[in-house]
Amino acid sequence: MRTIEVKLGNNSYEIRVGRGLLSQTGPWLKQLGFSGKLVVITDAKVRELYGKALAQSLEKEGFKVVLLSVPEGEAQKSLGTAGSLYRQLNDAAARRDTPVLALGGGVIGDLAGFVAATYMRGVPLVQVPTTLLAQVDSSIGGKVAVDHGNLKNNIGVFYQPRLVIADIDVLDTLPDVELADGLAEIIKSAAIRDRDFFAFLEANIERIKAREKETLEYVVSRTAGIKAEVVAQDERDTGLRNVLNYGHTIGHAIETVSGFGVGHGEAIAIGMVVAGRIANRLGMLTAEGTERLAALLRRGGLPTKLPGYKIEEIMSAMQHDKKIAQDKLRFVLLRAIGDAVVTEVNPGLVEEVLRANY
Ligand SMILES: NC(=O)c1ccc[n+]([C@@H]2O[C@H](COP(=O)([O-])OP(=O)(O)OC[C@H]3O[C@@H](n4cnc5c(N)ncnc54)[C@H](O)[C@@H]3O)[C@@H](O)[C@H]2O)c1
Ligand SMILES: [Zn+2]
Repeated sequence: MRTIEVKLGNNSYEIRVGRGLLSQTGPWLKQLGFSGKLVVITDAKVRELYGKALAQSLEKEGFKVVLLSVPEGEAQKSLGTAGSLYRQLNDAAARRDTPVLALGGGVIGDLAGFVAATYMRGVPLVQVPTTLLAQVDSSIGGKVAVDHGNLKNNIGVFYQPRLVIADIDVLDTLPDVELADGLAEIIKSAAIRDRDFFAFLEANIERIKAREKETLEYVVSRTAGIKAEVVAQDERDTGLRNVLNYGHTIGHAIETVSGFGVGHGEAIAIGMVVAGRIANRLGMLTAEGTERLAALLRRGGLPTKLPGYKIEEIMSAMQHDKKIAQDKLRFVLLRAIGDAVVTEVNPGLVEEVLRANY
């Protein structure tokens, strides 16, 4: 097992990454000083796969487990579902000191985290992420939210968990398409902060895709570590934390224009390569660096070319509002592999790079 500390003063917590960790959850929660009742929030699929194993570990330590589940999917990240969970917490007589465990992917982490942050002004939260994306990204850093109207993640708070438990074994059952989403964020993290880790990924990408346990344990812990370092320096997302959005400016626009038909990992993979080319045009990342990034993404099974959407639509999705078309766009760009900066870019240049044939 590997342990990473997220250093946030009184809100500090550990991320534990390794094999067989679901069965350690009971003893660990006891060590944190919890006892009595606790609530597990999960989705139907994860409940079926891992609900029992987690509940058994908790019950063995004498916890009384209330298991609540919602259907799978992003649509559950809503105020309506949060409302239904508040009622169920109330029915189960959950109190201010009753911990909530979020067992699932990023949808459950965000939803259960939001509920934990707001029920009775906040109950203790423990993240038990079960997708690669949740283990390396969404369970860390304390952003919890639901979607409302047509905006994603627009109703939320910062609320740090007490512990994050990333059990590598649960990744065995993860569909390939979900694995690719996590892989895109892993490559992103290396690209913005750690060129040695980037080289490690180049040397080991096949082992990751084959889900070799030791490699996955290292890769999850290193990526979680990168996010932890960044979050520790900028908990409230007012500066450095922006670098985590590498590839996301164009990525989000592609997701929007495709009506979310293009997956998040695929969209940011394309976004990272486009941002690489923009950086190159501005005298930052070398052409060789951009090609290394594209090659690693391709080997990871991710796309690097724009699907056939209209460039105008992507530009306007990026600008939200055509009235500000003259304004510069905020971009995270690489100066080199492992070294990112946040900067402003002329929309004209973005459009030119998007139009270039590659
Ligand atoms: N809070 C943050 O900082 C942050 C960061 C990134 C993304 N997010 C959010 O995360 C969400 C996406 O998360 P996600 O990609 O994990 O999606 P998800 O939670 O929808 O999980 C994807 C699918 O995998 C299934 N699944 C989960 N674990 C499994 C396992 N071990 N084996 C088999 N199937 C499993 C789920 O049931 C679901 O169908 C989005 O809502 C996004 O906004 C939040
Ligand atoms: Zn992302």
